[in-house]
Amino acid sequence: MNETELPGVKPFLKWVGGKRKLLPHILPMLPAKFGRYHEPFVGGGALFFARRPERATLADSNSRLVRAYRGVRDHVDEVVLRLSDMPHEKATFEKVRASDVDAMSDAGVAWWLVYLNKTGFNGLYRVNSRNIFNVPFGDMTAPRICDEPRLRACSHALQGVEVLESEFETVLDRAEKGDFVYFDPPYVPMSASSCFVSYTKTGFDMPAQQRLVEVAATLKRRGVHVLLSNSAAPAVYELYSAFDIQEVSLNRLVGASAASRGKIKELLIR
Ligand SMILES: C[S@@+](CC[C@H](N)C(=O)[O-])C[C@H]1O[C@@H](n2cnc3c(N)ncnc32)[C@H](O)[C@@H]1O
Repeated sequence: MNETELPGVKPFLKWVGGKRKLLPHILPMLPAKFGRYHEPFVGGGALFFARRPERATLADSNSRLVRAYRGVRDHVDEVVLRLSDMPHEKATFEKVRASDVDAMSDAGVAWWLVYLNKTGFNGLYRVNSRNIFNVPFGDMTAPRICDEPRLRACSHALQGVEVLESEFETVLDRAEKGDFVYFDPPYVPMSASSCFVSYTKTGFDMPAQQRLVEVAATLKRRGVHVLLSNSAAPAVYELYSAFDIQEVSLNRLVGASAASRGKIKELLIR
C-alpha cells in the first residue's frame, strides 16, 4: 500500500508529527478485531480518519484542538460557511490570530484553527507561555483554506465519536479488555536541535515518556491491544525494552530547510 492508496479520509488539519506517511506500516499492525478505538494523543488524527472505527474516543491535552474537532463534528455547516469567504492575506491572518479564541463557540474555534493551520507557517501549532498562538504567516501560494468535501467527510467520520480534552493517563479509566489504543506522543528528540516538544504549554518531558510506558504496560496486562509510535532515539529502545519494537524507514520533512529532509527511522512498538 502506498500513500495514494490509503483508505478513509484525509485529516482536516496538518499537524506536526502527522502519521500519513507511517500509515502503510501502521494499518497492517492493527488487530483484525477490537472493541473501542482510543487515541489519547490525537493531533491530526491520521490513523483515526484512515481506519474510521465506529466506536472511538479521541483525546488530546490541547483544548483548542479538541474543541475544533467538536466544531467540525457538530457544526460543519457553520465551519464551512465561515471559512468559505476567508482571504489568504497577512493582515487577516494577524487579525484572526489575535482574536480571543477561547471565548468562541466550538464552531468558532474550528474556524480559527483551520484558518491559521492553512495559512500559518508550515501548518504549525505553537503557543507562548500565556497560551497565545505565535506562528507567523506562511508563504504558501493559494492554500485551500476551505476544503469543503474534506471537512464534511471528516465531520461524517466523527459522528458518534467522543472527543475529550485530557491527559493521556486518563485512558486508563476508559480502555477495556479487547479495546485498541494507539499512542502517538510527542517524540523523544533525536538530538537537542530537533527537540520539538512544545506542542502544548507544558511540553512532554522524559518523566512523561516514562509514565507513558507504565500506562502502556498496565493496559497490556488488562488485555487491551496497544500500539505506540516514537522516534528511534536510543532512550526509546531502553524505555520499551520489554515490548516488541519494529523499525520503519521513512522520507520525512522535519524542519523547514532542505538540510533536515531525508530518511528517518521511526519505531512502531507493540
Ligand atoms: C505527535 S502529535 C500526534 C500526531 C497525530 N497522531 C497525527 O497523526 O497527526 C502529539 C499530540 O499529543 C498532544 N499532547 C502533548 N502532551 C500531551 C499529554 N500529556 N496528554 C495528552 N495529549 C498530549 C499534543 O497536543 C499533540 O496534539
